[in-house]
This record gives sequence, C-alpha cells and structure tokens, in this order.
Amino acid sequence: MQTRTARAAIVLLGWAILNGPAGAARIVVGPYLQAPSETSMTVMWITDANCVSWVEYGRDESLDQKAHHSEHGLIAANHTIHKVTIEGLVPGEKYRYRVCSREIVAFKPYEVTYGDTVTSEMHSFTTLDDRKDNVSFIVLNDIHEQNETLITVTKLAQTRPFDLVFLNGDILGHIEDQQQIINHVLAPCTELFATRTPFVYTRGNHETRGKFARRLPDYVALPDGRYYYSFDHGPIHFVVMDGGEDKRDTDKEYSGLVDFDRYRAVQRKWLEAEIQSQAFREAPFRVVVVHMPPQPSERWHGPDDMYQTWRPLYNEGKVDLMISGHTHHYEIRPPVEGQCDYPTIIGGAPQKGAATVIRVDATADHLGVTMMRDDGQVVGTYAIHRVKADSPAAP
Ligand SMILES: [Fe+2]
Repeated sequence: MQTRTARAAIVLLGWAILNGPAGAARIVVGPYLQAPSETSMTVMWITDANCVSWVEYGRDESLDQKAHHSEHGLIAANHTIHKVTIEGLVPGEKYRYRVCSREIVAFKPYEVTYGDTVTSEMHSFTTLDDRKDNVSFIVLNDIHEQNETLITVTKLAQTRPFDLVFLNGDILGHIEDQQQIINHVLAPCTELFATRTPFVYTRGNHETRGKFARRLPDYVALPDGRYYYSFDHGPIHFVVMDGGEDKRDTDKEYSGLVDFDRYRAVQRKWLEAEIQSQAFREAPFRVVVVHMPPQPSERWHGPDDMYQTWRPLYNEGKVDLMISGHTHHYEIRPPVEGQCDYPTIIGGAPQKGAATVIRVDATADHLGVTMMRDDGQVVGTYAIHRVKADSPAAP
C-alpha cells in the first residue's frame, strides 16, 4: 500500500515526465531564415517545450538589439514554433543574430513559471538590396523527401555564393505531421544554408496533400500570409505563384476538400494588378517562380487553367523568365512567340541522375541560367541580355 509521500512522489514524477524538468527546452531545428526583404528578416526555429522567444541581433557581435513577436498586444508565448520578424533593418547590410527561448514551465492566469533559457550559436544574414549590382539564387524542386538528393544538389551549388534559395515545390510527397517537415525540409536546409541564407517555399501540388498540409504556413513565413506575392532583389523582380493541384477540384483524390479554381482566379486578379505595378514594370528582369509550368492540356486541369488564365498576363507584362518543376524531366523551353513569350526553365526529378539545381546570376543587363544535374554535369544554360536603351516595359 502506498504511503501519502510515495503517492506524492509518483504524482511529481508524472508531472516531470509530462513537462520536463525546468530548463530542459531544446532547439529541435533552426534557426532558419524566411521572408527576406530590404528592411526585414524573419527568423524561425522550433523547441521541444513551450517557450517565450526572442532574437538578439546587431551589426556586430555585441548583439545590442532584441526582437520578439507580438500579436494583439500579447508577446507570443507558450509555443514551440517560433517566428520572429526583425524590422527596421538597412538594405544590403550584414547582421549577426542568435535566437533565445525561455521555457515556460507553468502558465497560470496570474503567474507564469519560467525555466532556463536556451540560446543558439551566433549566425549572420544579409538583407536584400534593390541596388545590389550582382545577385544570385538557386532553385531546388521535386525532391520528394529524398534528403540525399537535396544535399547533393545543394552542395554542388555551394561552390559559389548565392543570396537566396527557392524550394520550388514537391520537396515533400504529402504532409502528415511536423516531424516530416523537420526531417525533409527544415533540418537539412538549416544544416546546409538556412541559418545564413533564406529560403522561399514555393508550394507544389504535393504540399497540398495529407492531413497536415493545412499547417505548412505555420512552419514558413509567407509575406502577407499568402503563397503568392512579389518581392525585389537587385535587378530582379520576383513573382511567386501557387498553381494548386494538377487535377480538377472534383477529382476523387481530393475528397471534395480543394477549391483551387477559385484560388487561381483570385491569383489572376492579383496578377492583373501586379503586372501594372511600378516595381514590376521598372525592374530590369521579371522572374516568375511557380511549381507547375502552364501547359495546355485536356488531362491536367491545373496547368491548363494556368495556361489559359495566367499566361496571357505573363505575356502582357513581358515576363523575362519562368522557373518551374513538376514534370520530373529537366528541360529548357525557349520562348514561343504568341504562346509563351518567355523561356521556361524546368528542373528535374528526385531520382539520382535526374535531379538538378538551377542557378541564376543576374546584373542589370545580363541574366544567366545554369542548370546542373546531380552528377555535376551542366545540362542546360540560358542567357538574357538587356540592352540598356531598350526599356523593359517598351514593346
Ligand atoms: Fe508537382
């Protein structure tokens, strides 16, 4: 028969197992950089216990500034996923930072009990800069959870520096839980580059599948909370689009739970305004990053819808380059006047010998694309020269 003391010890032991001892919070993954802009950067990380978190940052190692996330007047607390946007930064400037999470052991209405604080190593990032002369970025696509492929092609690209990484869809096969996102996206990207180089997650059709797909926005930072948006870096105006699924909304695969025709129509309205914007019209180069390339098709409704409704606007706006994936066949499609007036670079498949990394280097008058296969072989190049007198907005 248990004594009162023994029962109390068992209860306490149970509490310790559920909550962990004070100070036990651990950074599970990150920090990784998201949603870069000229004046802000979002830093994300995940802990294994509920915490209140902040970023310490500065131009030198003194890290004399601090940022946290608050909403509706409340500092984000009692979470394991941490998303802190540092604002008021200077374009093209290097900052050092580290992330800090203080465990919340108990959250009572009038008293919060804190544990210890876990702190990451110091890292650095550089803000985007419209006036930067040379910019470089890489694009990975259709990894389908093959970490070895992700690592191989990224390391091939890392022989030269780049400012940004696009994960152009289908990095995952479908999304079941947080651990899958950590194992196949966040952990390898953090290990390879994302502590210092931000990645832009362009959603692919496979990332709309699975019971956890609706939670993906919790793990990335989406400007204005949308998967479609635009931003600038150096001579490039980037337009990120989200084509949704490849089949009709009524396809039995989707069990009546998708609404992509309406979603694509909303993006078309947005794109109409976007191509009229000053940032779009005046950029030396306009680059669209989208997982599925628009394609007339009776079988594949999503790419067909994008071809019928978005492509005329790409032509009208004089898009310079489209970067896609999805087909699992790497290729460079040159422009076809009156159809797609812009070239489309399509990255490869997850399998060894078919995977690629796309690299783009641009100045105000030249944009060069190099597509490298996972064996290091260059399998495609494309170059666009801009004559300075030729206004990009001119017919
Ligand atoms: Fe796809």
